[in-house]
Amino acid sequence: METAITASRRLTVSLFSRLRTEQGQANPFPLYAELRSKGEVIAAPWGGHIVTSYELCDQILRSRNWLEPDADWRERQGTGTRWGAPSSREMSKTLPALNPPEHTRVRRSAGMFDRGTLKQLRAPVSHITRRLLDSLAERLQDGEADFHALVSEELPVATIGHWLKLPTADFPRLRALTHDQVFTQELLPSASQLALSDAATAELRVYFTDLVHERRRQPGDDPVSRWITVWDTLESDRDRADEAVYLLALFVLLAGLETTSTLLSTATLLLLEHPRQWDRLAVQPDLVPAAVEEALRYDPPTHVISRVAAKDCVLGGVEVREDEMAHLMVAAAHRDPAKHEDPELFNLHRKPAHLAFSGGIHYCLGAPLARLEAQTLLHQLVTRFPRLALARRPSWAPRVAFRRLLNLDVTLI
Ligand code: HEM
Repeated sequence: METAITASRRLTVSLFSRLRTEQGQANPFPLYAELRSKGEVIAAPWGGHIVTSYELCDQILRSRNWLEPDADWRERQGTGTRWGAPSSREMSKTLPALNPPEHTRVRRSAGMFDRGTLKQLRAPVSHITRRLLDSLAERLQDGEADFHALVSEELPVATIGHWLKLPTADFPRLRALTHDQVFTQELLPSASQLALSDAATAELRVYFTDLVHERRRQPGDDPVSRWITVWDTLESDRDRADEAVYLLALFVLLAGLETTSTLLSTATLLLLEHPRQWDRLAVQPDLVPAAVEEALRYDPPTHVISRVAAKDCVLGGVEVREDEMAHLMVAAAHRDPAKHEDPELFNLHRKPAHLAFSGGIHYCLGAPLARLEAQTLLHQLVTRFPRLALARRPSWAPRVAFRRLLNLDVTLI
């Protein structure tokens, strides 16, 4: 019995190390299928549990018995662990690491993308997209262009920068910092990755704290100024109000850049890899929203979401102790045959349920903006460049939880 457990553990270790290579990230799905074949709930070799089925991932996200790994939980793991890193401690104060009742209070204060705000953003997003596609057209005259660098990396930072009213000159630095910062949110960050994340987090703190102070001095018509007004009613102490606003501004930048860039490139890649569906979209652009949803199911930007058990429980027949972590392999769950018919087929007509934006009380507040950017881009792209094609397969950074494309070379045929 012991040898069977050891063998199974060794298999999971090998699977995750293959997943963390560039090759593993280029196509993690056969590895996910292997993982799913081992069960709905598998022991994680580093402690905790790995969840592979759609039903259990969905159930955990909606359950009150599963919590975010908040500041108290991180402290209980010990200062010498990754959870004690300065970047992790800073993240523990942001919205997605809070549990009720604090989570409820902060989430209400954020009031993010209601219909009116989204309507106001439609024209600027469309305009930014058109400008980026102009530069793509220009570059394509030379034969090939890196769509990821020219378009996907630019649209999210230009959109959030416009919304938060940040200076254009700051965009490249902010984007570079978010790429480094994300390591602290990865599944198994190395010490050097954590060091990069710590440095990026410290620089972002200075940037956004200065921004909050500036907007307090000179309020305008922007989300940061509005959050200051809201937090002045929630906190009698001005420094605490400023800190809460800083954390909101920091987190929307971290949440909205890399994830959206990945969605834009992944959706484009999937359509170019399925030329019949691309051609279909070109004649029927009203299928664009469905294409975005299917891309979010087929290869979501976030492959893993984690929660911790609020109390002892049994999960999929496996005993779980209070405080143990469950890693929800949402990208694997999206290909669960018990949820989706022919899950390996990329199919525009599917209208799929997915967990790309999480579920339950932490459902992504930026989902309407991410959808707006992706739909605007695909619509303009397919109508303006119906003869776009892939020049070669792209490459990916060796991550596990947060997908990151490194390039997407396209050409015209
Ligand atoms: C395709 C793009 C995006 C994806 C895939 C994505 C994914 C996610 C996921 C999976 C979560 C939940 C994490 C958890 O349950 O622990 C989340 C939360 C969140 N996202 Fe997004 N996101 C995207 C874009 C954005 C954008 C553009 C913004 C804001 C401008 C944003 C703001 C947020 C916020 C504020 C939360 C925290 C919600 C809470 O904890 O209550 N996201 N996102």
